[in-house]
Amino acid sequence: MKGIDPAIVRKVEKLRKELRHHDYLYYVLAEPKISDEEYDKLMRELQALEAQYPELITPDSPTHRVGGVPTKEFPTVTHDVPMLSLANAYSEEEIRDFDRRVRSLLPRESIKFTCELKFDGVSLSLRYTEGILTLGATRGDGTQGDDITNNVRTIRTIPLRLEASDSALLDCEVRGEVIMFRKDFEKMNQERERAGEKVFINPRNSAAGTLKLQDSKIVTTRPLKFYAYALRSERKKLKSHYENLQTLKKLGFVVDEHAKLCNTIDDVIEHWKRWEGKRDELPFDIDGIVVKVDSPDQQEKLGAIAKSPRWSLAAKFASRKAETKLREIRLQVGRVGTITPVADLEPVFLGGTTVSRASLYNEDYIRELDIRKGDTVIVERGGDVIPKVTAVIKEKRPRNATPFVFPKKCPECGSQLIRMQDEANYFCDNYECPKQVRERIEHWAYRGAMDIPGLGEAIVDRLVSEKFAKNIADLYDLHKHKAKLCELERWGEKSVQNLLDGIETSKQKPYHRVLYALGIRHVGAGVAQVLADHFSSIDKLKKATQEELEAVYEIGPKIAESIVRFFKNRKHLEIIHRLQNAGIRFESDKKKASGKLAGKTFVLTGALTTFTREQAKEAIELLGGRVASSVSKNVDVLIIGEEAGSKLEKAKKLGIELWDEKKFISMIGKTKA
Ligand code: IVH
Repeated sequence: MKGIDPAIVRKVEKLRKELRHHDYLYYVLAEPKISDEEYDKLMRELQALEAQYPELITPDSPTHRVGGVPTKEFPTVTHDVPMLSLANAYSEEEIRDFDRRVRSLLPRESIKFTCELKFDGVSLSLRYTEGILTLGATRGDGTQGDDITNNVRTIRTIPLRLEASDSALLDCEVRGEVIMFRKDFEKMNQERERAGEKVFINPRNSAAGTLKLQDSKIVTTRPLKFYAYALRSERKKLKSHYENLQTLKKLGFVVDEHAKLCNTIDDVIEHWKRWEGKRDELPFDIDGIVVKVDSPDQQEKLGAIAKSPRWSLAAKFASRKAETKLREIRLQVGRVGTITPVADLEPVFLGGTTVSRASLYNEDYIRELDIRKGDTVIVERGGDVIPKVTAVIKEKRPRNATPFVFPKKCPECGSQLIRMQDEANYFCDNYECPKQVRERIEHWAYRGAMDIPGLGEAIVDRLVSEKFAKNIADLYDLHKHKAKLCELERWGEKSVQNLLDGIETSKQKPYHRVLYALGIRHVGAGVAQVLADHFSSIDKLKKATQEELEAVYEIGPKIAESIVRFFKNRKHLEIIHRLQNAGIRFESDKKKASGKLAGKTFVLTGALTTFTREQAKEAIELLGGRVASSVSKNVDVLIIGEEAGSKLEKAKKLGIELWDEKKFISMIGKTKA
C-alpha cells in the first residue's frame, strides 16, 4: 500500500489472520482458545488501525462483523442458477416413488443418495470471488433475491475469506440455511420480554426477520448460524455432493454432521425414520431430511420440472400440528403490564404432550388470521417452543361466531388498556395492577436486578396476598412487621431474618441496576446502563425530555417515550420517593464509575469540531473515564482532533489506541455537546 509503513500493513494482516482463526475456533468448532477480553483487544487494535488507515480496509476484514451503516433498501440481485424449491414426500411410499422415478430416468446407472437434515430456517446464497465473500443474497422468488451482504457479514459461521489449497474453489457459490438454535432463540425472546419488546414466533421467523433488518449493527446481536448444504464452482467439475460437504467443511463452513451417503432407498428410509425420532436431540429445528442424488453429473441429466429438481426430495416428518376447538380467548398480564392474548383450547395430544393453551401474540395476529371464539383451529408445536395457533378452519366455523374485539380494560384491575403507535401489544399502565405487582416485585428481586435471595415466586405471592407488600417500596418497610411475619405459618424467624437481610443488602446495588429493576417498559439491563451513564441521577433522568433522551445514541423514540411516560405517573414518583428515603441508590457512584469508559485514561490532541476541550472532558468523565494532559504509557486512548500535534507521534510510538472524532462520538453516544 502506497505511503503506508509496511510494518503497519503487516500488523493489520497479522491481526486479521489471528481474528479469523479465533472466529473459526469459537464459532465453527466451538473451542475457543483465548478469552473474550483478549479477543476484544485484538479487535480494537485492528479497528483503531483501520480508522487511522482507511486505505487498508478490505471487505473481508473481521471488523465488518460488527455491523455498518444502515441500508435504506436492499438492491435486487439475479441468481446465476435459480434457487429452486423441493418436492415433498410424507410417507415411505412417496420416498420409494422418488427412487423409482430416478431409476427409470437413469436406467442401468448406479445411484447413490446423500441424505441431509432439512434445516428449518431461511436459505441463503453466498458468492466468493478469489476467496473473498462478495455477495450474500436471499432466495426471493427463486430467480431474484435481495442483496443482504452487510447483514450476512455479521454471521460468524460464514467465512469472509476462504483458504483453499485448490484455487479453483476460491470462485464459488455456497448455499445453505440460516438458522437460530432453540436455546439462543428462547434466551433472546426472554430478554425481549423482560425489556417489554415484541417476542418472535419461532426460530425460523426470527432468522428471517433478522436477515431483513436494515441496521446490520442489530443483526450482530442476534445469534444467527449458517449451515452450508451446496457448493458450486464454475472453474472445477465436482464429483460428489457428499464429498462437497467435506470440502465445505475444510473451507471453514459448518455442515450437517449427520449427513449420510446411502446406496439404497432402504438406507434412506432408515435415516429418515431415525431422525424423526431424534429431532428433539438437535439444538435446532428440522422438519425432515433432504435426499439428493449424489452425483452432480446425474443431477444434471435429471434436470428440473417446474420449480423443483428431479434429483432431490424433501422427506418431511409427520408434522406436530393438530386440530382442536378454541374455547375462549383470554388476556394475560405480564410484568411491565404487557397484555398477551392466549387461546384456551380443548386439550389435544401434540408431539408427546397435551396442549390446552396456545399463544395468540397480539391483536394484529388475531385479526390477520381472523381467529374467533368457537373456531376449529390448527395448533403447532416445534421443538420445545410454546404451542401456537397457526390457522383457522373456516369451513368448521359456528354460524354465530363473531369477530374478536380486543377488550379495552385490563382483566386484572379494570384499568383502560393502552396501545402505543408502532407497538403490537396493549399494556395496562396501572403500576398497582395486582397481577403486575407480583411480577414487578419478582423482577425487582431478580438476580440480574436487585438480587434479593429468598424473594422468589412463592414468597412474593405470600407477601402480596397477606397484604404485606403492594409495591416494591413496601419491601423496605417489611422489617417493621417482623414479628407478624414470624407468626406466619411455615415461616421461622431464621428465614424471615434472611429475607430482611437480603432486602437490606440490596440497598448497596448500583444506580444502573436500580433503573433496570424499576421495570420501565423497554428498559432492559443494557438500556439501564446507558441511561445511568448519561443521566447521573434519577432527578436528572426524571427531568429529561423526549428530545434529550433521543439524543443519546442507543435510545430510540420508543424507549424515550416510555421513560417520559413512566416519570409522568404520580404513583411511580411516590414509590421512587419512598425508595429514596429507604436508602436505595439513585445516583451514579462518581468515585467508582461504572460507565463504559470506566478505568480508561484519555488524552486529547488537536481541536474537535463538535466539542470544546472542556465539553469533551466532561463527557469522558461522565462515562467514568479519566482525562490526562500528556501522553505516557499509562494512557489508553488518544483522541485526535484537527491539526494534531506531537502527542500523536508519541502515542503511535507507544502503540496507544487512536480515536478520531467520529469514533469518539460513536463511543460516547453523543452528537453534540
Ligand atoms: S438443498 C433445489 N439441503 O429447503 C433445492 N435445502 O424446500 C436445493 N433446506 O429452500 C436445496 N435444509 O432453504 C437443501 N440440507 C438441505 C436443506 C435445504 C433446508 C431448505 C432450503 C430450500 C428448501 C426447499
